[in-house]
Amino acid sequence: SQAPETAAVINPCVLSGSCEVRPGPEFLTRSYRFLLNNTFKALQFYYADNHCSTPSYSVQVQGRLRLRQPSWIVRGGTEADYQIHSMRLVCHSASAARELGCASWQPNISCELWSVCGCVCGCALNVSMHELQLLRLEKQYLHHSLDQLLEELYLGDIHTEAAQRMLYRPSSYQPALQNTQNQDLSCVVCRIVSRSDELHPPVLPPQPELTVTLRGQWASRRCEVRPEALFLTRHFIFHDSNHTWEGHYHHYSDPACRHPTFSLFARGRYSRGLRSTRVMGGMEFEFRVNHMRVTAMDLATTSLLNVFKESGCGVQGSWQVGVEQDVTPTNGCAALGLHLPHTEYELFRLERDADGRLLLFNGQRPSDGSSPDRPDRRPTSYQTPLVQCSAAGGQRSEVSAAQSLGNLATTAAVAAVWSLWVSET
Ligand SMILES: *[C@@H]1O[C@H](CO)[C@@H](O)[C@H](O)[C@H]1NC(C)=O
Ligand SMILES: *[C@@H]1O[C@H](CO)[C@@H](O)[C@H](O)[C@H]1NC(C)=O
Ligand SMILES: *[C@@H]1O[C@H](CO)[C@@H](O)[C@H](O)[C@H]1NC(C)=O
Ligand SMILES: *[C@@H]1O[C@H](CO)[C@@H](O)[C@H](O)[C@H]1NC(C)=O
Repeated sequence: SQAPETAAVINPCVLSGSCEVRPGPEFLTRSYRFLLNNTFKALQFYYADNHCSTPSYSVQVQGRLRLRQPSWIVRGGTEADYQIHSMRLVCHSASAARELGCASWQPNISCELWSVCGCVCGCALNVSMHELQLLRLEKQYLHHSLDQLLEELYLGDIHTEAAQRMLYRPSSYQPALQNTQNQDLSCVVCRIVSRSDELHPPVLPPQPELTVTLRGQWASRRCEVRPEALFLTRHFIFHDSNHTWEGHYHHYSDPACRHPTFSLFARGRYSRGLRSTRVMGGMEFEFRVNHMRVTAMDLATTSLLNVFKESGCGVQGSWQVGVEQDVTPTNGCAALGLHLPHTEYELFRLERDADGRLLLFNGQRPSDGSSPDRPDRRPTSYQTPLVQCSAAGGQRSEVSAAQSLGNLATTAAVAAVWSLWVSET
């Protein structure tokens, strides 16, 4: 007989756990089903508002998915190929239909996007399913209890630049989708999304808009993935009395954040801007970095910093594993691509999770590896949220970001197990 978790991953149906924000911005929820015969049915519901309570259109994509090999670019991920067999669009409002180039379209009627006669409606729609090219399944035992298994499926990220979106092969992930089979149904959003279909999009309850005040300490809840195979945890302290901030960034070479490569400490000032006019629910900030310290944590990074010829990172040739150096006098660390002083145009929002804890989202970094160092590069979407670990801003932290990752039982092998089950059938 099969273990319950194995049975659950053979036929996974995965859903959004919250209203997601994609670059643009686009507000959406997703509901994807993967079938035994290697086919999938993906439903994406798009909205006019940041709480996903006003549906504008829905897209249903059906096709075939073949899991391939472990990714060489993003360790821990599995690569896959897909084919689209059909794509259907439903507009829920006249304005959505106009926006998508369907002037004479009727609301709430499903239409095939690519018919033999070419594009009839929705020609302006930029939906691709490239997110299926990179997958990672994670299992987490909640509260260390073996019968509370949470399964999450991470799919590839969406390029921050609209023009690149249809060409980009993912190199990090979007927010995880939740497996429904073993949900304890405390996830209200999952329940609403699971009951929907293309003609009846999920309508999420409107939430109070939380005012973003940056105060206290915030840390990563998980090992985060950035494009170009960067794995990291973050820990921030904001002092709202004098508008200064400190950030600790711990970088790793592996997707479980067990093998450190280098750590960064950055400090500077920030100023609060206005409510974003572009991203509903977002608040603009400006961050300046004027002090930075670097610690090489493994031999590879230490020798990289020591051989770097231009004297652009601390005292040349003096790097040792685990010994911190102030790189402010050398205006940052050119070898690591860090330049001081540095200004970033940021976007923040706050949300409460199902347990009532505050989550802080800051802007997604541009997918091309550049920095949001000009107002026109300000993000329109967010990265993995940080969780509040202390509301008191004053003291230095005792909280290690790694500690909050303690209950995460991730295994890179899980995606491989899943791929075996799916492809053997
Ligand atoms: C795959 O399975 C689903 C449900 O069992 C079925 O509706 C669909 O036609 C099958 N597709 C193919 C290509 O076999
Ligand atoms: C279309 O569907 C949406 C969502 O179910 C609903 O709110 C709206 O009233 C419907 N519009 C019409 C014209 O039926
Ligand atoms: C699709 O992409 C094109 C070009 O990047 C853009 O002009 C258009 O507005 C996009 N359509 C939607 C619905 O976002
Ligand atoms: C800002 O305030 C915090 C705590 O209130 C303090 O530790 C820090 O040194 C101050 N920074 C500056 C630049 O004044």
